[in-house]
Order: sequence, then structure tokens, then C-alpha cells
Amino acid sequence: MAIEPISTLHAPMPAMALHNVDVAYHGDIRILQDLSLRVEQGGITGVIGPNGAGKSTALRTLFGLLKPAKGDVYVGGKCVTGIAPWSFISHGVAMVPQSRSLFNELNVDDNLRLACWTFRGDKVRVEQALERAYSRFPMLKDKRNQMAGAMSGGQQRFLELGRALVLDPKVLLLDEPTAMVAPRLSAEIYDFIAGLPAQGISVLLIDQNVRQCVRVSTHVYVLELGRNKVSGSVQDFAQDHTLRDLIAQWVDYKIDS
Ligand SMILES: Nc1ncnc2c1ncn2[C@@H]1O[C@H](COP(=O)(O)OP(=O)(O)OP(=O)(O)O)[C@@H](O)[C@H]1O
Ligand SMILES: [Mg+2]
Repeated sequence: MAIEPISTLHAPMPAMALHNVDVAYHGDIRILQDLSLRVEQGGITGVIGPNGAGKSTALRTLFGLLKPAKGDVYVGGKCVTGIAPWSFISHGVAMVPQSRSLFNELNVDDNLRLACWTFRGDKVRVEQALERAYSRFPMLKDKRNQMAGAMSGGQQRFLELGRALVLDPKVLLLDEPTAMVAPRLSAEIYDFIAGLPAQGISVLLIDQNVRQCVRVSTHVYVLELGRNKVSGSVQDFAQDHTLRDLIAQWVDYKIDS
């Protein structure tokens, strides 16, 4: 029997999980190898690691865009391996991919309306969803008639977040939400993400910005070459000298103990 890492012993049910998955591109380019990952319920689970470590591949697997050759994907206690990506919405899972995903030629309002596609027949719900998005991000309301493609990178990221939240998810998967975003808006995005668990949303946060990722996360995974390198709660990282030194060396960042 595999020895459970101390941080997962007696742990509550995760919001989502990958269990020992192998994932390959084009059938034979194996990227993830025996990777396990828990998106902690009511927390922010940070995933860090160097370029090409497999972070985005793990997220695509969690959202059903890639099917594992081995292992399983769970939402809560339910095994959902092999279901289509669009079905994840009905399981309460939304995601914002690493690459920009807006309809640049459509305005802000229409981008949000398109996100309501699955319940488009329910006009009241659509208007409520839009109002909620605009009250979360008043800046979007000011720009509701502006083309998405004409907004700054940070503003586009807020629109992508607003669009994902229109679906009222329980789990939000985020891939590098502040990449190429100016520092001021980037800080606002992290503050926003930090507040999501209090709204009942569990978050998976993939990030190259290790400092900010560790600052807002409750649990952290480090991936390397498609495998788990280390993982634990932020407290584990702070208290374990080896882990703390690893992070400190790697990114010149000291976790407060
Ligand atoms: N569509 C694809 N086809 C083949 N190989 C791919 C494909 N997408 C990614 N890869 C390879 O899979 C590996 C993991 O890529 P992935 O994008 O998951 O890494 P990452 O950790 O997200 O990196 P980054 O920090 O640069 O975003 C890399 O070696 C990459 O070249
Ligand atoms: Mg990536």
C-alpha cells in the first residue's frame, strides 16, 4: 500500500482530484506520469513548477480536455474519467485557460451572454448572472459595449473570470491568471482569487508567479517533468526545512514559518 503523504491522511473529500494519472499527447508523447493532485475543498490549491512541467496538461486533464491513459479524475467523490469537457459545467466546474479565450470581436456584454448559453432559455437567470458579473467587476459594466479585444490584458482576464463565474461554479480552475498582466491589475486579480473560497468556490491556481501563488494558496503542489515533486499545506512548506529551502532556492522566496 502506498504511504499517504502526511497532509492527505484523514483529509476531507477534495473538490476535485487526479488519481495516479498518466497522460500523453498524440497517443505516445507521455507527459504526466503517475500524477496525483487534490483540489482542496474550500481552499486555494496552488500548482507551481518550471516551464513544461505539465501544469497546464494537469489542468486540461482535470477538465476532461485530455483523457488519461491510466488513472482517474474525480469531482467530489464521483469518478468522471472520460466525460466530455462541456459536462464539467453541470458538475459545477469552470475553468480559465492559459491562452486568451475571449471572442475579441464581440463586446463585453456579448462575451458574458455567450457564457450563459447552457441556460439561455431562462432570461431571468441570464440577466441575474450578468448583473452579478457586473457587480463583482464594476469595471466590466463601464466597458460593457467595448470590444473584448480592445481591452488591456488585465481587463480581459477579469472578463474571463467574470465569464467563468457566470456559471456559478463550485470549483474554478485557473491557468496563470496574471501572465502578461500589469502589476496593479495583477494584484487586484490575486486579491479577487483570495476571496473566492469565502464565496464557496474551491480554486486550483496554476501559476508561474510563485510568490503570489504561495501567498494566496492553502495547499501547494510542485510539479517537475510531469510528476509530483512535493506537495503539502502552506504550513507544511513553512515548517519543513527541506521544502522551505527548496522553494527559497528555486525562487529566492522565503515562506514565513
Ligand atoms: N499539444 C501538445 N502536443 C504535444 N506536446 C505538448 C502539447 N502541449 C504541451 N506539450 C508538451 O507537454 C509538456 C508539458 O506542457 P505543459 O503546457 O503542460 O507545461 P506547463 O507546466 O504548463 O508549462 P508553462 O509553464 O510553460 O505553461 C511540455 O514538454 C510541452 O512541450
Ligand atoms: Mg502552462
